Amino acid sequence: MGKTIGIVSLKGGVGKTTMVTALAGAFFRLGKKVLIVDGNLSMPNLGLHLNIIDPKTTVHDVLNKEAGVKEAIHPYPGFDILPASLFTNAKVNPFLLKNNLREIKRKYDVIVIDSSPALNDETLAVMLASDEIFVVSTPDHPTMSTSLKAAKIAKQRGTPISGIILNKVHKKKFELPLKTIENTLEMPILAVVPYDTNVLKSLSFMEPFTIHNPFSEGSEEVMKFAAMLVGEKYSGRSFMNFFRTIVPAKQDINREIFYEGFFK
Ligand SMILES: Nc1ncnc2c1ncn2[C@@H]1O[C@H](COP(=O)(O)OP(=O)(O)OP(=O)(O)O)[C@@H](O)[C@H]1O
Ligand SMILES: [Mg+2]
Repeated sequence: MGKTIGIVSLKGGVGKTTMVTALAGAFFRLGKKVLIVDGNLSMPNLGLHLNIIDPKTTVHDVLNKEAGVKEAIHPYPGFDILPASLFTNAKVNPFLLKNNLREIKRKYDVIVIDSSPALNDETLAVMLASDEIFVVSTPDHPTMSTSLKAAKIAKQRGTPISGIILNKVHKKKFELPLKTIENTLEMPILAVVPYDTNVLKSLSFMEPFTIHNPFSEGSEEVMKFAAMLVGEKYSGRSFMNFFRTIVPAKQDINREIFYEGFFK
């Protein structure tokens, strides 16, 4: 039975969709069967990241009960995608997502759901459909305040956020320190992905960055995070990892704790 992972943040542009495609690439590299789902129904962009512009059947049709969920799943090299429609004004019931995904869960090792950057029913529906939720945040005060709000809402809805994916990190002194972010949000940082222009380049090629630049620092982080989610270890291929075995980074320790807590 697959595990459903929701990727959320109440702020736009932090990298949710980028992270969903990167995770798809990472799970593929780990040999897992993965489906990614566009849960951003009002402003979908998951398909756009992968050159799937106007698919015949979409999650909108499924939520409108005009198509079965299997009909709306499209193959992409390495994984499957359930895209949303860019060109519809149809009002749908996002809360049907959970039951529709339940129907196909056993076909996949992991299902990863992208979400809308707003506090609306779409985001709540993604939270309800997920077994585990992760928030994408950047290391600054405005984003952290929205992450705090997301954490509060997820907790109220019964699926607390399991951890933070810190993205677009410049490693500058003016950025909020990891410890401050963790203490404020009261959850662990499980991946730290640097700001990298190669991520923008991979987007121009419409490919996940974990496939386009498989051994970049960001890709190695997403690989380790993805492996942790399925109870596996990815030791990493880059030179940097050698030093990290001697002096582990904060997120290495957090992933280890998460792994031990969930899978041992
Ligand atoms: N680590 C990174 N380094 C550099 N650029 C990045 C990184 N992560 C994401 N980006 C870029 O930031 C932009 C926004 O990313 P993305 O579309 O994934 O955000 P989002 O949270 O899904 O936004 P929205 O809420 O509007 O859907 C994209 O151009 C993407 O390529
Ligand atoms: Mg997006």
